[in-house]
Amino acid sequence: MGQTLTEKILDDHLVEGELETGEEIGIEIDQVLTQDTTGTLVWLQFEALGLDEVQTELAAQYCDHQTYQFDFKNTDDHRFLRSAAGTFGAYFSRPGNGICHNVHKENFAAPGKTLLGSDSHTPTPGGLGQLAIGSGGLDVAVAMGGGAYYIDMPEVVNVRLEGELPEWATAKDVILEMLRRLSVKGGVNKIFEYTGPGVESLSVPERTTITNMGTELGATSSIFPTDEKTEDYLARQGREDKYVELQPDEDAEYDDQLTIDLSDLEPLIAEPSMPDNVVPVSEVEGVDVDQVMIGSCTNGGYEDILPAAKMLEGRSIQPDTEMIVAPGSKKASEMLAREGWTAEMMAAGVNYSEATCGACIGIGHVPGSDSVSLRTFNRNFEGRSGIEDDNVYLCSPEVATAAAIKGEIVDPRNLAEELGDMEAPGFELPDAYEGAENDIITPDDPVDDDLVKGPNIGDVPLKDELDADLEGEALLKMEDNITTDHIIPATQDILMYRSNIPKLSEFTLSRVDDSFAQRALDSDGGFLVAGENYGQGSSREHAALCPMYLGIEGVLAQSFARIHKANLFNFGLLPLEIDAEDYEQIEQGDDIEVVDDVAEAVRSGQEEFTVRVNDDWELTATLDASEREREILADGGKLSHTKKKADSG
Ligand code: F3S
Repeated sequence: MGQTLTEKILDDHLVEGELETGEEIGIEIDQVLTQDTTGTLVWLQFEALGLDEVQTELAAQYCDHQTYQFDFKNTDDHRFLRSAAGTFGAYFSRPGNGICHNVHKENFAAPGKTLLGSDSHTPTPGGLGQLAIGSGGLDVAVAMGGGAYYIDMPEVVNVRLEGELPEWATAKDVILEMLRRLSVKGGVNKIFEYTGPGVESLSVPERTTITNMGTELGATSSIFPTDEKTEDYLARQGREDKYVELQPDEDAEYDDQLTIDLSDLEPLIAEPSMPDNVVPVSEVEGVDVDQVMIGSCTNGGYEDILPAAKMLEGRSIQPDTEMIVAPGSKKASEMLAREGWTAEMMAAGVNYSEATCGACIGIGHVPGSDSVSLRTFNRNFEGRSGIEDDNVYLCSPEVATAAAIKGEIVDPRNLAEELGDMEAPGFELPDAYEGAENDIITPDDPVDDDLVKGPNIGDVPLKDELDADLEGEALLKMEDNITTDHIIPATQDILMYRSNIPKLSEFTLSRVDDSFAQRALDSDGGFLVAGENYGQGSSREHAALCPMYLGIEGVLAQSFARIHKANLFNFGLLPLEIDAEDYEQIEQGDDIEVVDDVAEAVRSGQEEFTVRVNDDWELTATLDASEREREILADGGKLSHTKKKADSG
């Protein structure tokens, strides 16, 4: 049987498992990327591995999320990231240089390679035939240490594209159409593989708009085959040597298939406040627009902003509509400036910004209260713009620009008819991306060769191997449904310590018992006891890392939320399930002792453990774990496990 393109790349990188849907596989990672809000912890974890340099072919550190450096901690983070990149052999892209996905696409994306990134829109270079996946920071640190990335083999879904986009319909409308059909949950545990005659009509930047927003479908990744367009795009960047031809086999079998006829598409828009609230623009015409923003990793390229600039040439935006253009990269910005397009946009009334994520995560350009903002971004979740009751619509640069010209939502086809002299701008690639270089500091010529840690950057602890004996106090007894927000709150005043684990740990479970962190530190080890569904909510790794730092050995709970349980293994905490009667009987302050030789029992696959309470009564607890999870747990967590493997050769 033939292979899909996804299977071909996975097969090339497979180190464990078989390519059967739902089976766990381990794959080798060629490239990694991190950004500034996740990168500090990634590098601290990498430092804890004790390696001299990154083991992947390429690692790139970007500073894009918080580029305004509004606080010394922020600037110190950037300085630390530069020093970590220099010390361990990664590329460093400084603040203002652009958004990780845009800059990666312009410099490093390579067909057939695997990319793991600690950012959810990492799948962007799938538009060039790269298999790119977003993950937690620990997975990235482990990959940089030479460890494989483990994932359950996703379903591979074929999206067959036919026809060509009509005037004023864009790549953004292709992915909005996918969201309209499939919803924000439609891609969970799936990789979308685009094929069909419609592919060749799309340029690489158009393809990457589609793969970028596959994340909003919940997809693991999205990928296009490579062709002359890919080769041409790489050649324009002076990177033609990276081209490889990649196509699925003709008899490849997919888990599912759908077809989109591009010629049927029209300008679409996602209404507040979910990316899948998609309707034709013509259905919402006439809504007054207060703010228009063009940019982000979805539509922040030179090729995305050029159509807006062309539409604005010789025109003005409405005085009561603000329009901001934030390019995705300095390179895009510089090219637009050299060609005079920046001046055209500014003359039309555009507020021109530095290349940054910024407004996409509510940093800067926060909409006014009770106002409407049209953005070319990928997410419009309520409150993400920086104000709780926002009204953010998502659309193409053409639809956004039309709204700025008209002062209200308008189908650009209707605006063109009304104005009489506005042509569809189309989609153009620059002759060469050369002449405007991104300021990337290379590993061969680093600025720093030692780590620079400001006062808000602390070390990440490594846990020792599991001992035969495990005992301690039940330090805290909790109810059902404790969330990761209960364990480590995500408020800005607390999360600013995310690179300072000793400080952040002081807030551990403070919403349940504010004396807990100190008691845990004083007691030199101990256990948590919880009811059902312990650790539900976001996948925050700190919710396992901080208890680990405080010396917690394990959690006895009636049940665990899936992702948090995986994080407990990753940070070396023993998750034992207990029944409701035993839960009722245990009291906070009780002495807990796991009677078995714990290290041996975990490694040998033992499922039932005897737990003695107060040297008085016993209960049976269950460990439900895969062989790999048991190894990680016994070695003291994923970092220690990776370090051990690296040390042994
Ligand atoms: Fe940045 Fe927003 Fe993309 S935060 S990485 S522009 S989704």
